[in-house]
Amino acid sequence: MSQNIYDRPDFFKAYSENIDRSDADLEDDLAWSRLRKLLPDVKGLDIIDLGCGSGWFCRWAVDQGAKSVLGIDLSQNMLDKADWLSKDNESYGTKIKYQRADLDSLELSDEHTGRYDLAFSSLALHYLANLDKLMSLIHGVLKPGAPFVCNVEHPIYTAPHVPRALLIPETDGQKCWALTDYYKEGERVIDWLAPGLRKQHRTVTAYLECFFRTGFELTSFVEFLPTEEEVLSGKVVEIETLRPLFLFMSLRRRN
Ligand SMILES: C[S@@+](CC[C@H](N)C(=O)[O-])C[C@H]1O[C@@H](n2cnc3c(N)ncnc32)[C@H](O)[C@@H]1O
Repeated sequence: MSQNIYDRPDFFKAYSENIDRSDADLEDDLAWSRLRKLLPDVKGLDIIDLGCGSGWFCRWAVDQGAKSVLGIDLSQNMLDKADWLSKDNESYGTKIKYQRADLDSLELSDEHTGRYDLAFSSLALHYLANLDKLMSLIHGVLKPGAPFVCNVEHPIYTAPHVPRALLIPETDGQKCWALTDYYKEGERVIDWLAPGLRKQHRTVTAYLECFFRTGFELTSFVEFLPTEEEVLSGKVVEIETLRPLFLFMSLRRRN
């Protein structure tokens, strides 16, 4: 059974106040500026968004001319927020459908088979214990040759059981990321925004092997490595210069 921490009041409050993207923030979002480059022109496309959260990508896609977007998420809180943010816009109301489901056990009816031109997932796959199952499902709902664009927390970030930076002895205050347990895949229980967040650590190899095994090829691979300009602009906090936070990938369904 998947953890649904986004419906826990303490976590949801902290996430809403500190993390959740509002549509207005997209322009300044360093992660989105990288993810955006991996996406095709979405005009006229049927899209599925796995782990859609409060639906910013679904709304963005409709704004860009997408034909339809199905957003799926486990959290009722996030879906309620998505509904609320869509309520005054007729295009959102007619083109976006939200569905509550656990991506670890998701089943979709035959009408979804081969229906989608693009699958998308932002920062949800690292919560899943059963990634092979979801990837096989995505393979089945995409048209042959269609892309799946996603990002995950970077394996260097998810590896340690205690994520932290350490001072390096005998330096002038230099810090390093305490990378431990990289090879040991599986659950991590960490305190982030609230105690007891559960996620899954996979190595880079494990992600890629899963994608290849389930019928995808890799077309882009981008690590979140802040540029000097971004660091100087003050948009990047120090710890982001010690290790990559995200991994962005574009895959293509093999025929
Ligand atoms: C970090 S948020 C990202 C939300 C959104 N995609 C974004 O980029 O802002 C992770 C989302 O994944 C959802 N999630 C986590 N585990 C899930 C699962 N097993 N099934 C469906 N959704 C899940 C959470 O409810 C949450 O909305």
